[in-house]
Amino acid sequence: MELKGRAAVITGAASGIGRGAALEFARRGASVLVSDLDADGAREVADEIVAAGGTAKPQQADVSAEDAFVSLREAVLAAFGRVDLVMNNVGVLTRGLPEHLPIDEWRRVLEVNLFSVVRSHAVFVPHFLKQGSGHIVNTASFAGLFTYAYDRQPYAASKAAIVQITEGLRLYLEPQGVGVTLLCPGPVRTNISAGVRTFGPETVTRSPGAAYVAKMPDQVGVRLADAVERNEFMVYTDDKVVEELVARAGDWNGYIARKVAEISGS
Ligand SMILES: NC(=O)c1ccc[n+]([C@@H]2O[C@H](COP(=O)([O-])OP(=O)(O)OC[C@H]3O[C@@H](n4cnc5c(N)ncnc54)[C@H](O)[C@@H]3O)[C@@H](O)[C@H]2O)c1
Repeated sequence: MELKGRAAVITGAASGIGRGAALEFARRGASVLVSDLDADGAREVADEIVAAGGTAKPQQADVSAEDAFVSLREAVLAAFGRVDLVMNNVGVLTRGLPEHLPIDEWRRVLEVNLFSVVRSHAVFVPHFLKQGSGHIVNTASFAGLFTYAYDRQPYAASKAAIVQITEGLRLYLEPQGVGVTLLCPGPVRTNISAGVRTFGPETVTRSPGAAYVAKMPDQVGVRLADAVERNEFMVYTDDKVVEELVARAGDWNGYIARKVAEISGS
């Protein structure tokens, strides 16, 4: 699917990866509904796109609201007369040892990260099926592919679930002419850690590994736009992750034993 002439809605597009995708999709000729909880940030990104000669409109939306995606569908149709792509990109992080994370915090993170995607699918899957075309991008994380920390379980659980439901969606929708792409970023320089709360004692923030050099959001935008245009399913921001996944699949017990030794020895 060429992005030129298409209409896209991106959640969490005022910052980081969502902003990088919005700028790149627009550069390739898509009209973008720049949606975010942060209304001023969404307006700034939309203004930036328009100043560069592209087409964009800002739309304030809280993806944890029950009717958020019905409103987004109406907004994108009102703005551009069509919708071809939805990118479910919002994700929030919380930190704390497993016994210190309150259930309400689990609920908040799952509501924002996971149930937003479920609500989006409920609105956009029937729309794209009826239309006979469309593309859905879901943003997961390396945290949903393998385990490198134990102090962010709600986040990792939400991302693992997104991996699973996105895979299922691809199986369901590809034969019906609707594209599905799973964006799995490793470290990317964004604002995701700003304001993250820690429950219980401070923990050491572990990254997926020293081998993964942090990427910039605009690099992720280019990689993702290429994948959408080629209708590819999986987008890693670093292909080295494949070695990690193969090692785990080949000897899961040995892999976990090595991780325990690595973490307890650090
Ligand atoms: N940055 C990384 O290293 C990294 C790695 C793996 C996965 N990711 C994932 O990438 C996605 C984008 O994150 P980012 O790193 O660009 O973070 P970011 O914090 O820079 O951007 C996230 C945006 O989401 C918005 N947002 C937060 N809650 C919202 C809500 N309830 N409704 C609507 N908008 C809301 C924020 O205002 C912000 O503009 C997330 O799903 C994140 O989990 C990021």
